[in-house]
Amino acid sequence: MKIIMLGAPGAGKGTQAKKLAEKYAIPHISTGDIFRANIKNGTALGMKAKSYMAQGQLVPDDVTIGMLLNRISEADCANGYVLDGFPRTIPQADSLTSALLERGGQIDYAVNVDVPDERIVARMAGRRACPECSTIYHIEFNPPQQEGLCDACKQSLVLRDDDKPDTVGKRLKVYHNQTQPLIEYYRNENILVTVDGTKNMNEVFADITKVLEA
Ligand code: AP5
Repeated sequence: MKIIMLGAPGAGKGTQAKKLAEKYAIPHISTGDIFRANIKNGTALGMKAKSYMAQGQLVPDDVTIGMLLNRISEADCANGYVLDGFPRTIPQADSLTSALLERGGQIDYAVNVDVPDERIVARMAGRRACPECSTIYHIEFNPPQQEGLCDACKQSLVLRDDDKPDTVGKRLKVYHNQTQPLIEYYRNENILVTVDGTKNMNEVFADITKVLEA
């Protein structure tokens, strides 16, 4: 199964993508996580991505598209994947559609996790992430067992630089201008599934899987 996650920054795409990847035993591919790993390791790709991400802007398509298409060509993607954070622009969506058509495939579902902007800022302020394994927590809605430490690898959890309120505002603007049109794009392809992302995490997951397994 090939799934795309759509939704505003902080809507819960990563949280749901991880659960879907576990349930269907397919890789969870987050372009944000790939960029953050490259920044941490000081690679040339990380250097390019860093300033855009810090300002809440999108990393240019010419960097992002090739990186993602290479990733989905790897052997572990043979049975599908969950894409979290890609596509984010119409050119990214077109490139993905064409690349899959060439391989005789297509995306099965585009899952839109719908959360209004006013709920997003609070979610972002409470998010904590593990810099080692990328596990996501929330200080109120999904706290770690031990405050400030990742359950899995015991690393100290961090607030992402781009989760500060000013940058969140910029990311929301970029989302509405450049990414939200993809909802219509995938509605026209008849593969759009919209779920209410303001419910609790388990309810959102149940709503998604109900449609995927109908
Ligand atoms: P990326 O890492 O993809 O960030 P994003 O899309 O802005 O999404 P987030 O990771 O912020 O949020 P999410 O929707 O995954 O929510 P989460 O599950 O964490 O991208 C970062 C940057 O990289 C971009 O700004 C851009 O610069 C660059 N980039 C990445 N991809 C790109 C691309 N394709 N093209 C160009 N540039 C690209 O949840 C948020 C919080 O809420 C968590 O704390 C979670 O625990 C909590 N939560 C989740 N669900 C619920 C719920 N139902 N109820 C209560 N709390 C919840």
